[in-house]
Formats: sequence, structure tokens, C-alpha cells
Amino acid sequence: MNIRKIMQVVSGMPATDGAGVELTRIIGQPALAELDPFLLLDAFRSDDPNDYIAGFPSHPHRGFETVTYLLNGRMRHRDNAGNEGVIEAGGIQWMTAGRGIVHSEMPEQQDGLLEGFQLWINLPAAHKMTAPAYQEHAARQIPVESRAGATLRVITGTTSQGTIGPVAQPLTQPVYLDVSLEPGARFEEPLPAGHTAIVLVIDGGVSIGDEAGASRHLGRDQLGVLGDGDAIALDAGDAGARFLLIAGKPLGEPVARAGPFVMNTERELRQAFLDYQSGKF
Ligand code: FE2
Repeated sequence: MNIRKIMQVVSGMPATDGAGVELTRIIGQPALAELDPFLLLDAFRSDDPNDYIAGFPSHPHRGFETVTYLLNGRMRHRDNAGNEGVIEAGGIQWMTAGRGIVHSEMPEQQDGLLEGFQLWINLPAAHKMTAPAYQEHAARQIPVESRAGATLRVITGTTSQGTIGPVAQPLTQPVYLDVSLEPGARFEEPLPAGHTAIVLVIDGGVSIGDEAGASRHLGRDQLGVLGDGDAIALDAGDAGARFLLIAGKPLGEPVARAGPFVMNTERELRQAFLDYQSGKF
């Protein structure tokens, strides 16, 4: 096994998006503008409704996928094709925006904790104009794998124990695991070589080996970018740990992006704005 080393530790920066939602931007900020195929990663966690109640009213997307994973709270989703639903705690919405959707994402609660993540994953050039599609799974549909000292919620990918996540995306072959570790537990898992891989600590802390042979600590809300290899190994700290392990196949294509549109060229980007403004989404 070639264990992946930690190459970069990133702390998110405070950001405001939508109609005034306070969040933490982890990918898509100066310290980490993008990480092919990942374009953006936001974390939101607040029990103050002023931070989230404004939500994300009607806005478009084209050319990539948005992945919303909720840990706490409820979000209502509506799009211009008539799709509507509520994402609840522990649920995932994997939306392939493709050639374009216009949607809103609004908190379905007036108070209490809202906590979750939104990840943007790029689509290959040949699939950017595909028909929009959804893969939505409630908490009960996400398999939970138990190991010594570890519990894994498997959203997509296949684990070494054979647990298969319900989301399928052959284009970027993503892995998306929500892993909880007991204090001091070690976690080892193969990951496809060549995939971009990140670890985002939600609770507690972990340590991962770096290139100098030392051990780097990742605390709550910190992201670790892993170098190449075919496996990950990390150790939970004294308080245990909960983290997201996310990996995906890089596309290696040019990226032209502006706000909610991510294409390959400036020309395609202008076309996206024109199509949106003329109601073609
Ligand atoms: Fe959106």
C-alpha cells in the first residue's frame, strides 16, 4: 500500500452567499481556489436563524453537480422543472445541473441548528450540457458500515468491506464517506490512485502523516488535501473524530467559471449567461 501523505491544510474562510447565508467557504477561496474535479466546498453550521433564514432563493446552475449533505435541520428544494423536495438531517441530494436548472434552496425551519455541506463537482466537457438529474437519498437509505472503532456512512463509492453507497456517478467516480472514529482509533482504507482526495474534520481531530514523515493534526473544520497514493491512513485524537472523506477523478480540462456557471471556455460562459437571461434554462 502506498499511503497518501497530507500536502496542505486549509481552514475555511467566512463567506456570505444566497440572500445572506453565513457560511464557511473551504474550497473556492484564495487559499484553495479549486481542486479538480472539486470546484467549491461550503460548510454551514448555525443555530442562529439570522445566519440562514434568508436561504438561497431562485438561482441558476450549469455545467457541474451540486452535492448537499445535511447533518442537522431541513432544506426545501424547488426547481423550474417542477421538482420539489425536502432534504432532512442525514440526507443527501446529488444534483447534476447539466445544461441548466433554476432552483431555490431554503431552510424549512424557523429556528434550531442547521448544519451541512455543499460540494460542487465538475462535469467533463462532453457532459456539461446533459439533462439535469437528481439522486436523492434520505438518511435511512444511506448504508452504515461498522468496524472496530469506526462507523462509516457510505454515500457513494464502494468500501473495502464491500459497502456500496447509493449515489452513482461514473464520470468522476466519486467517493463520499462520513466517518466517525472512537478516541485513538486508526482508520485505513484503499482509495483509487490518481483520484483527488480530501479529509474535512467535522468534530474532534485526526492526525495524518506528511511528506517529512511527521504527523500533522487536523482539527475541527480543517481540510486536509492528500497527495497521491492508493490508500488513506489516519488516527483519531483523544476526543475521537468525525470527518468527511471525499475523493474524485480529476478531469484535467480547462475551467471557465463565473458564479453559478462552470464551463470550459469564456465563449461557453457567455452563452450560459445569454441562455439564462433569455429563459432557455
Ligand atoms: Fe444552488
